[in-house]
Amino acid sequence: MRFICLLLLIFPSLLFGQEFIPNYDESKVPDYQLPDPLVFENGEKVSSPEDWEKKRVETLRYFETEVYGISPAWDGEIKAEIITELLNALGGKAERREVKLTLQRNGKEVDLYVLIYLPKIEQAAPVILGLNFYGNHTLSDDPTIRVTDAWIRNNETYGATDHKASEKGRGLRRENWAVEEAINRGYGIATLYYGELDPDFDDGFENGVHALYQEERNESSWGAVGAWAWGLSRVMDYLETLDDVDAAKVAVLGHSRLGKAALWAGATDTRFALVISNNSGCGGAALSRRNYGETVGRINRAFPHWFAKRFDHYSENETALPIDQHQLIALMAPRPVYIASGVDDRWADPKGEFLSGLYANPVYQLFGKTGMPENKQPAVDQPVMGEIGYHVRSGGHGMLPYDMHQYFNFADKHW
Ligand code: GCU
Repeated sequence: MRFICLLLLIFPSLLFGQEFIPNYDESKVPDYQLPDPLVFENGEKVSSPEDWEKKRVETLRYFETEVYGISPAWDGEIKAEIITELLNALGGKAERREVKLTLQRNGKEVDLYVLIYLPKIEQAAPVILGLNFYGNHTLSDDPTIRVTDAWIRNNETYGATDHKASEKGRGLRRENWAVEEAINRGYGIATLYYGELDPDFDDGFENGVHALYQEERNESSWGAVGAWAWGLSRVMDYLETLDDVDAAKVAVLGHSRLGKAALWAGATDTRFALVISNNSGCGGAALSRRNYGETVGRINRAFPHWFAKRFDHYSENETALPIDQHQLIALMAPRPVYIASGVDDRWADPKGEFLSGLYANPVYQLFGKTGMPENKQPAVDQPVMGEIGYHVRSGGHGMLPYDMHQYFNFADKHW
């Protein structure tokens, strides 16, 4: 016994695992070679948009089997019920609804509560759809917006204790979502709490929308990121039924882990006409092979429920990945996609996020488009906007009014 204690004292890693020290030194980024997004597995070149359609299938398949897992095709029913409605929200400029979507399949049900703000304009409104971290009520002071009863991460600031949300969070994310600017500029905002789709803990995939499917799991089954992205598509199913929403102009947006989900939603569901990744980092826009900041190994150890089990085969073994994240960006082509970083958010590897966009360019060029308009990472607070948009904002990890402002500019440019 004493010997074991001594061992643990000298080698605490035996008990706690190896401490992860992120690399933040550019000179220590390994030499790496990325898979060419325009070469088929059999070595043939992709040389036309028609070829790309086939290569796209091959690429998507790898992201499914090796990274995010395969999400099931939806064959259930969605019931929609408006639970609260304000016809004169935001000083009369907007209509605000909260809609309960009940997903029914296989005798099971999951309720999702979607908060929707729409500008009062003549035509159907373009909408920006994104998941939120702490509940719909954090987007507005409006006391009638429901506080979610789904499992929530404890967070003192937002008054989330015992994994329950509370009034304390009301309105705290109002600035971040820039709902008022959206409305002033003619955009709607639609959002829902991500934990209603899948609670963010390692629950053996028994809760949220995973519960609608009871298939046996394998190494390529969908994880939480897959479930969040899949849920965005179910909301899209609903938005398509609304006359006051322009379903051809729905952008999908997400921050951080939800930025990973937004990218995966954009890749799997081409109904999303524009895709926005805010500080999505590892498993999002950042290149895995750079090993800068968060790595594949670290993310799989810290969040074993986020990805397909297969992804763990590439922990500390990124060069074996048949794809890298530039090809995730390429899956959006020729649709517009915006990648945003925070300069101090080194964990998310701002440069690796930029490079993903840059290396997706050949696919955009196949469509006669530019893609990322700059070869070098732009200076701080200098957004660039081709079909791929990019900025690195001053400050750290977060979705700020500055970021939203650029997204509206980007949507204005393309729509
Ligand atoms: C952690 C995680 C990141 C993730 C972030 C977030 O930092 O390591 O991958 O993006 O949480 O979602 O806030």
